[in-house]
Amino acid sequence: MSHKMHFHVLTLFPEMVAQGLSESILGRAAKKGCIELETVNIRDYTENKHRKVDDYPYGGGAGMLMQAQPVYDACMAVKERIAERRRGMREAAGTKEHAQPRPAAEGQDTFSAGNPVRVIYVTPQGEIFSQRMAQELAQEEDLIFLCGHYEGIDERVLEEIVTDHVSIGDYVLTGGELPAMVMIDAVSRMVPGVLKNEESAQTESFQDGLLEYPQYTRPEVWHGIPVPSVLLSGDHAKVEQWRLEQSRERTRTRRPGLYEAYSRKDRALGWLSKDRLSHMDMLEVIRRGQAEVIRAEESGVLLYDRPSGAWMISASDEDMGERLLSEIPREEKNLLFAVHQSFLRDSIARRFHRTLVNECFQAVYTRKLPPSCPDGFAVRPLTEGDADAVYAAYHAVHSREYVRERIAAGAMFGIDADGRLAAFAGMHDEGSMGMLEVLPDHRRKGMGETLEAWLIAWMLEKGWVPFCQIFDGNAPSLALQKKLGLKLASGKLYWIS
Ligand code: ADE
Repeated sequence: MSHKMHFHVLTLFPEMVAQGLSESILGRAAKKGCIELETVNIRDYTENKHRKVDDYPYGGGAGMLMQAQPVYDACMAVKERIAERRRGMREAAGTKEHAQPRPAAEGQDTFSAGNPVRVIYVTPQGEIFSQRMAQELAQEEDLIFLCGHYEGIDERVLEEIVTDHVSIGDYVLTGGELPAMVMIDAVSRMVPGVLKNEESAQTESFQDGLLEYPQYTRPEVWHGIPVPSVLLSGDHAKVEQWRLEQSRERTRTRRPGLYEAYSRKDRALGWLSKDRLSHMDMLEVIRRGQAEVIRAEESGVLLYDRPSGAWMISASDEDMGERLLSEIPREEKNLLFAVHQSFLRDSIARRFHRTLVNECFQAVYTRKLPPSCPDGFAVRPLTEGDADAVYAAYHAVHSREYVRERIAAGAMFGIDADGRLAAFAGMHDEGSMGMLEVLPDHRRKGMGETLEAWLIAWMLEKGWVPFCQIFDGNAPSLALQKKLGLKLASGKLYWIS
């Protein structure tokens, strides 16, 4: 499921951006149709007859500021074009809307379907750009970059249009064009098809938290220095081992902070793997790169999962449990926990006064190939128009907002019957399969089985281990897991919110 990524850059220097990104790998990617770059000259949108876009700051001070009007109009024009393209695509695909199209919500301007487009203001005052952010942004279909110049931009337009403030580092450049180009480069190489060998996006520096190992090419001896002999041995396993050691050593000496995070992750994976089935939720959020390992000890692990905001904990004794819990900031409002021992549940009730608990069993699909399932049902991704129907049928634990977010993330799928949604399922934000619901008139026909088998195949394709969490007492779900070949973990899991 590859998509084309559209970059839109609002700038006073469109040639600089267009030229900078037209060569080499990104030039090739644009020709191939993996990415598309639109540069927009903010000056084209000024209402000033002298084409002026800047003025003096109120209150005095050095330099000039970019005015709100041309920036706003340029941005709206881009959003309108994006909306039009998306409408065209939907019509071409013949996508059915299952509910009345909603009127455009305030601030969401022309978008009646798809995600609101992110507008990134490149500024030294933003969050520092990282590989993780590049990966996250690569999931979007469109990104708008706003490049500032002079001393900045009128705050009012920033407040109105900007969704993300991002910096490329703690230094000040003369304008936002270079930072925007840096980000577009880093995001593009995460887009499927941009790099020739898809693997290289995955294995290079940072992806697994280590710097890249040293590389050598011909000649075999240069300036009297031979290539390390292991690389000539032809023994792949040995080469891999050597490279990993080199990566580790290089990271340890050059980037001690990065190395510390890597070894925490390594220790956490080691400890959690002692009971893989019970810990598959924690193992997967680490492997999928969405969680931070806060502590990894000989008898317990504490993770923070970014997408769900959940603190995930497993500990082999109460002392360790207390130590791990003491790392969690008490003052945070919407604390969410997923813990693997009942003593942790009790400690959390005491420490954080949280008692709303869902007790679950965890089940894991351990095979490499997806299960076979009954033919005859077409599974489709859900769209925004399905949100109300989903929420009406499945609101026990989750908010309407959550349902919308999961659909927008492309993580929900459904089956239609008689022109209406008859069954749906999806992936929760922390990565488990769930939200499976077959509407009463359509039960016992195999729709649930089809949907879950489909989800399993979808996750395997992404290189993930499919797992789900079944509420204590949900016998039909347990039976389905058994039928599809999932293995039940011995330990329980407690969600506390
Ligand atoms: N504009 C000027 N300096 C910048 C930086 N370091 N990052 C992003 N935008 C900028």
